[in-house]
Amino acid sequence: MNNNSWNLNSLKDDFIKHYDGSKEDISVFFAPGRVNLIGEHTDYNGGFVLPCSLHYGTFLLIRTANYSKIRFRSKNLTGGEEVDCAKPVIPIGNSWVNYPLGVISEFQKSGFRIPGYDLLFAGDIPNSAGLSSSASIEMVTAFALNELGGYGLGMLDLVKLSQRAENDFVGMKCGIMDMFAVGFGKKDHAIFLNCDNLNYELVPVILGDYCLVITNTNKQRRLADSKYNERRAECELAVNDLQSFKPIKNLSELDLSEFNTVAGRIKDDIVRKRALHVISENQRVIEAVKVLKHNDVQYFGELMYDSHRSLKEDYEVSCFELDTLVEEASKIEGVAGSRMTGAGFGGCTVSIVRNEQVENFIEKTGKNYKQKTGLEASFFIAKIGDGVRKVNIED
Ligand code: GLA
Repeated sequence: MNNNSWNLNSLKDDFIKHYDGSKEDISVFFAPGRVNLIGEHTDYNGGFVLPCSLHYGTFLLIRTANYSKIRFRSKNLTGGEEVDCAKPVIPIGNSWVNYPLGVISEFQKSGFRIPGYDLLFAGDIPNSAGLSSSASIEMVTAFALNELGGYGLGMLDLVKLSQRAENDFVGMKCGIMDMFAVGFGKKDHAIFLNCDNLNYELVPVILGDYCLVITNTNKQRRLADSKYNERRAECELAVNDLQSFKPIKNLSELDLSEFNTVAGRIKDDIVRKRALHVISENQRVIEAVKVLKHNDVQYFGELMYDSHRSLKEDYEVSCFELDTLVEEASKIEGVAGSRMTGAGFGGCTVSIVRNEQVENFIEKTGKNYKQKTGLEASFFIAKIGDGVRKVNIED
């Protein structure tokens, strides 16, 4: 994962190689990936999250065409597609193209006429690693189409439209966090978002002698989507049971002390644990924001470890590989905290590591992880970048 691993001029050359025509007509857009610092599996429960947009993400080179076809290609993902956009578009098997195509479908459903386009995507975030490569593709498409088509939608409209694309067209019932972070991200800030009313605050991330290190388990994720949808259903069951106590719409309407007095109303032990995770995680996010504002990295780190424990034991979305990374990280001097980030079942951890210990952290964690899992982890230092935008070639 190398930021700016793509040279925009040579991407333009590639574009012309595939599609002909002149380079002058190509527009370039960029949408970041995101890393969530704390607040996992709370977004679809109307809770709190604290993600940041990354320096890494997806470039989109795009040109309006004078035919009613949209042509898709990617530098990372195999297979291109050509779609007739004079008709309502429909999903194409399991193709990656469904992410941008879902966005196009949502524009069509909103009554916007979509002209022909040629598109070339080039990303530098790994797929299926819990860093929102899909939200990045959706948002860069939505932003570019809105700009070029002059539809006049605001950022929140684009966020919601991209979420609908993923929920209804791709079939992944994700919450709003990823698209929101990709849209509203700001350099060196985290987004403290209330997913119920979508109020948010940008909180400066000042880590002093520490930095954020993302570690990829490089574990092939299987069944992640079905398990994700299963957790959502379990949370709905918990809400149903708790409605005999209070007419709540989502779990985040209860705080921890209130929950403790009524937890017994949830009949199923497993469903009760799921609810406990969500409600305790909300509380951790609120505390994390408080300590982040005081630059208390140590306390923030402890909350990260607690969050991981809760995701592992109560929500059960971690796995041996993620647990191993967090455990090995915790043994290393200069690590303030570590946890899985994203949906889980594989993907990445995020750790706060003292700058001078980063090399040691990478060497030791990498070695011990390999010994225990047989897998090679990959590491990178996360820089917090801005949200989705148009790119000038001089940038
Ligand atoms: C995925 C989803 C998000 C969120 C996280 C877990 O990334 O896309 O909406 O639910 O999992 O916090």
